Amino acid sequence: MGRMGLPKLQIALDNGVLSEALESIRLVGDEVDVIEAGTILCLAEGMEAVRCLRALYPEKTILADTKCADAGGTVAKNCADAGADWMTVICCATIPTMKAALKEVRDLQVELYGDWTFAQAEAWMAAGLTQVVYHQSRDALLAGETWTDKDLDKIRKLVSMGFKVSVTGGLEVETLPLFAGIDVYTFIAGRGIRDASDPRQAARDFKAEIARIWG
Ligand code: 5RP
Repeated sequence: MGRMGLPKLQIALDNGVLSEALESIRLVGDEVDVIEAGTILCLAEGMEAVRCLRALYPEKTILADTKCADAGGTVAKNCADAGADWMTVICCATIPTMKAALKEVRDLQVELYGDWTFAQAEAWMAAGLTQVVYHQSRDALLAGETWTDKDLDKIRKLVSMGFKVSVTGGLEVETLPLFAGIDVYTFIAGRGIRDASDPRQAARDFKAEIARIWG
């Protein structure tokens, strides 16, 4: 077993309507470790989505995927007041934005999109940020991109720097073996669970595959 134990499973609720997010989470809430109010949901429904998830799941870790770029302290306080434990900032946000956000929430994840450098990653670590999300963008996947050795090498390097690395972007149960041998902190799946014909079974299949590979 790796340094951090079994990777967690996080469901991303990227529903466009709050009632549909609640329908999704009703089916799988008990099966997952972390519940994410997705960017799409946050933009559509605001912090009411986080408040509803917290009301339903008082004990679960809840993440608000704001991909915050600025006004970190204010956005993070809004998330924390609504009941979120964690929040995301985009990797191009400034260090002061990240530090201000980190003061308000229990933990902060840096979302890696587009161009970023390991020198920046060192600066995030020095600022007290220990979680990053390695993301295959939905639009990149739609354009035909996929996970490559280059992605896996970068993930390994971030892990070796001491980051808790979450992985996301179009994940299916069948994608998980690609990451075998890497100390992934959390697998974040949205459509792979929500859009399954039996979402509860899909979440269980993710958990079983994680236990098979990392257990
Ligand atoms: C999009 C996101 C999604 O929440 C994340 O990628 C998971 O969604 P899916 O598994 O459907 O790709 O952050 O910006």
